[in-house]
Amino acid sequence: MSMLKIFVGTMYGGALDVAEQVKPLFEEAGFDVEILEQPELADLTEPMPELALFCVSTTGSGDYPGNFVPFARAIEELGPDLGALRYGLIALGDSSYGDTFCGSGRALDTLLREYGATRLGERLEVDAMETFMADDAAIPWVEEWIESQQLKGDKT
Ligand SMILES: Cc1cc2nc3c(=O)[nH]c(=O)nc-3n(C[C@H](O)[C@H](O)[C@H](O)COP(=O)(O)O)c2cc1C
Repeated sequence: MSMLKIFVGTMYGGALDVAEQVKPLFEEAGFDVEILEQPELADLTEPMPELALFCVSTTGSGDYPGNFVPFARAIEELGPDLGALRYGLIALGDSSYGDTFCGSGRALDTLLREYGATRLGERLEVDAMETFMADDAAIPWVEEWIESQQLKGDKT
């Protein structure tokens, strides 16, 4: 069974909504999908999923949402080997925050790659100044991501 885990970092639920909206697209592509609203490092490493998608918004001044802090901190402190991990990343932010736009998603991207993970394709950055409902940007992006990366699970 091909497993896709969606790791969510959210304050007001926008990133969770994105995860729930894109879940069926991955199921259609043959993946067994699990959404993690309170992610822990073990969710990523024991066992490591075939594929991971991160949906994270930004709070404070470029900071991780509270529910995501323990996960990111555990990676920083324990330095797991993420060499076998392939992932995609959807960052939610607001460009009116200037330099810290999508700061959390960008920091996570750097962190995952520092420990050996491979990002498939480009990161999606959803700007609340331009896109009222993040799903409107995320759904077509995921459709294109699945297509361009030829993501296919083995669920029948
Ligand atoms: C207190 C607060 C601080 C924020 N700080 C940032 C920031 O530094 N950078 C950014 O890009 N967006 C920032 N945002 C915007 C949110 O990331 C954006 O509204 C996002 O869509 C929220 O997603 P969520 O519903 O998943 O929490 C902030 C929003 C709030 C309310």
